[in-house]
Amino acid sequence: MHTLNIAITGLGSVGQQIVKLLASRHDYYLRQYQYDVRLVGVCTSNGGRISEQGLSVEDALSTVTHTRGLTGLKFINTVPADVLIEAGPTNLNNGEPGLTYIRNALSRRMKVICLSKGALVHDVSGLIELARQQGTLLLMSGATGSALPTMDLLQVCVAGCYIRQVKAILTGTTNMILSEMMDTGCSFQEALNKAQELGIAEADPSLDTQGWDTANKCIIIANSVFDAKVKVTDIQRDGIEQVTQDHIIQWKEANLTPRLIGVINHHGDNCQISVKLELFPKNHPFASVHGRMKAMLVETAEMGELFVMGGASNLLATAAAALKDLELIIRTMSVAKASS
Ligand SMILES: NC(=O)c1ccc[n+]([C@@H]2O[C@H](COP(=O)([O-])OP(=O)(O)OC[C@H]3O[C@@H](n4cnc5c(N)ncnc54)[C@H](OP(=O)(O)O)[C@@H]3O)[C@@H](O)[C@H]2O)c1
Repeated sequence: MHTLNIAITGLGSVGQQIVKLLASRHDYYLRQYQYDVRLVGVCTSNGGRISEQGLSVEDALSTVTHTRGLTGLKFINTVPADVLIEAGPTNLNNGEPGLTYIRNALSRRMKVICLSKGALVHDVSGLIELARQQGTLLLMSGATGSALPTMDLLQVCVAGCYIRQVKAILTGTTNMILSEMMDTGCSFQEALNKAQELGIAEADPSLDTQGWDTANKCIIIANSVFDAKVKVTDIQRDGIEQVTQDHIIQWKEANLTPRLIGVINHHGDNCQISVKLELFPKNHPFASVHGRMKAMLVETAEMGELFVMGGASNLLATAAAALKDLELIIRTMSVAKASS
């Protein structure tokens, strides 16, 4: 039996769900891979808790028992972890605190599973290079569509193929708002209110409705899969705030369905990214991506087109996407151990 120690930075709604799901899978990892997967450290903005013997769900989540000040570099440089799960806030201004956590964890040769987007938008290429130099891994399903397997499709399912274009619905909230407007004829504001009541819109909904979230996910995908050097200022970006009830009536009469799409066009060493409001005929696969669902359509030179749909946004699905990355790490380590 081997041990694998996990640390988590950020215990918001996602971090808490990961703590619970990780605990519920402990016996499965033991049975399936002979790995004793232990949560050895957690921290928030104020403090944290570290235990080499492992923390129970209650120990991890009861922040009153955390040590004040055990956060930031103090936490990351002392926690005895093999894997860091970064579930702190997405800060698009400078990528912090995630950037410092990830750089230091990779420098300590930890494997990193990242759900926050700020650090990746700022410097995913630099972080991947650092992981390569340190002989470790950086995985990011939770930051690139969560339960929609975008990175797996591009890096595993069509590995080796020349990918010409990626088109994707990457933001469940915008898709839900457009679906609601088409289904009920309600206004943009009424549909946004419903998304907020359901708790699926960002605290600042303009991040979704002005296309920023889709743009950011496209940057992370393009810069990591194609080693592109795209910055947010290079992107042509539409949102959905300008959609009126008159537009909806016209589109319904014309049998067209509006969707907010991230597009990555890949030519040689170059990538162009745009975020567009596009209209699709009823028989197009994007027209059937309804509500909170997401989807990705990939055009390759060798395998033709592939389409994947699903990944509706919810906390359990997001936590499961992060633990899918963990399972890939465990499998890779099991194979390496078996062959050594
Ligand atoms: N919600 C989703 O469905 C979803 C899906 C995919 C990806 N994500 C990403 O996952 C991340 C977490 O999402 P969430 O909804 O759980 O966010 P959240 O509820 O805002 O939680 C953020 C957590 O990060 C902690 N934090 C803040 N500053 C910190 C620091 N300096 N060091 C350590 N921890 C710090 C916060 O602690 P305090 O309470 O002490 O401030 C809080 O526990 C975000 O980056 C989000 O973009 C979310």
